[in-house]
Amino acid sequence: MLAAFLAVILVLLGVMNSYPLILSRQMIFNSKEQAIRSQASLISTALAGLESFTAESISQAMSLLDLSSLGRIIITDAYGNWLYEAVDGSLQPQYSTIQWCIQGALQGNDCVWPRLKSGVFYTNVSMPVMPDKEVTGAVYLFEADEDQGAILMSLRSTLARISVAVSLAALFLSAFLSETITRRMRQVLEAINQVRSGEYSYRIKVRGRDEVSQLGNEFNSLAERLQQTEEVRRRFVSDASHELKTPLAAIRLLSDSILQNPDIDGDTAREFVSDIGAESERLARTTDKLLRLTRLDNKVEGERSAVSMSQVVDSAMRILRPLAEAQGISLTYLDRGDGCIWANADEIYQVVFNLAENAIKYNVKGGSVELLSQREGKMILLSVRDTGIGIPDADLPHIFERFYRVDKARSREAGGSGLGLSIVRDLVQEYGGEIEACRRAEGGMEFKVRFPIYDGG
Ligand SMILES: Nc1ncnc2c1ncn2[C@@H]1O[C@H](COP(=O)(O)OP(=O)(O)OP(=O)(O)O)[C@@H](O)[C@H]1O
Ligand SMILES: [Mg+2]
Repeated sequence: MLAAFLAVILVLLGVMNSYPLILSRQMIFNSKEQAIRSQASLISTALAGLESFTAESISQAMSLLDLSSLGRIIITDAYGNWLYEAVDGSLQPQYSTIQWCIQGALQGNDCVWPRLKSGVFYTNVSMPVMPDKEVTGAVYLFEADEDQGAILMSLRSTLARISVAVSLAALFLSAFLSETITRRMRQVLEAINQVRSGEYSYRIKVRGRDEVSQLGNEFNSLAERLQQTEEVRRRFVSDASHELKTPLAAIRLLSDSILQNPDIDGDTAREFVSDIGAESERLARTTDKLLRLTRLDNKVEGERSAVSMSQVVDSAMRILRPLAEAQGISLTYLDRGDGCIWANADEIYQVVFNLAENAIKYNVKGGSVELLSQREGKMILLSVRDTGIGIPDADLPHIFERFYRVDKARSREAGGSGLGLSIVRDLVQEYGGEIEACRRAEGGMEFKVRFPIYDGG
């Protein structure tokens, strides 16, 4: 682009430097030729009227004519002998030029030889003297004009100066423009490299409103989309693993408790095995939901039905009891009046399970966990209380954030990823409910969850 731009400028400068000069030189030549030709023809006509063609009669006739600005006048007879000569000025033609012109005229031709040399216009004109169709002599006139030449020369040098200035300006301007564009394109390339290497938050600083800025804006919004997609992907992967973790942990707990208890009676063992079956079904439902999610790429609503809170709490407690017993923690549930929620049973189960599991995981040996459900106006309240280690006030506002863990070492030991509470909060909000966490005066935590009651309508 830069090369094409410079080439166009150079062609324009070339035309600008030659065309006006050629044109004005031609105009000066023409006007000089006309002026000198008319003088030659005036002399030739005057001499053609002479009775005798001698030096005296010619001098006489010439003295009567009003001739101006000529550097040389030569008049010859039919054989080329010079009968009259007048010389004015120091710039004179070469002898050979004079001879050439005179010979031409003696052969009956008008000869014109204009020349521009070293800034001076030289004009040679010769013409035959022909009273009757026969050549009796020749007139040769010569003029050297320095003034017009000087004007032409100054025009030429002015044009050259302008050209140099224009070339320099064009060169600087194009170098500046190309440097600016190249630098900004380099920024865009750098941004593309950054985003390609996974730095999705990288943005181009956009200034102005030209095409390169538009490119920057487009790139930024593309990167924004990529970042969002990446975030959704990560979130999906972590949520999916968490959802799979809950039933898997339950299956492990149940099978462990069967294995570690050699005197287990047949009924209890059957109950545990049926719970393992129920958890496997939950696992199958979860994987099915995840598969549908990947296919549709958006939220899949699980099937909703009237879910009884006390039934959900009972089944979660059955699964968690072995975990609580292993740590000598008492697990109790007080059901003060049942209520139903219009929801997906697995999701309500996840809420209860996560809260109760936390209450056991972050408890002390010999501690207790109490669950309580009751109606509260149009809401159903579930409270999960523990006598555990509690959460410091400074951490309390953050516990519902994704991946937030208060005591990282302990949480990691307990197999925690810091996702449980954020999933619980999202689910509760999805059903138009609310959740709060507070420290208990006697130590430990209390989590309260409220869901709108479904009363069959
Ligand atoms: N009842 C509780 N008592 C004390 N600390 C708690 C309690 N519940 C949660 N926490 C703290 O809050 C953090 C976040 O809990 P959350 O359930 O979100 O994650 P997690 O239990 O570490 O992992 P996950 O539930 O994903 O397996 C926990 O790491 C823990 O430090
Ligand atoms: Mg948890």
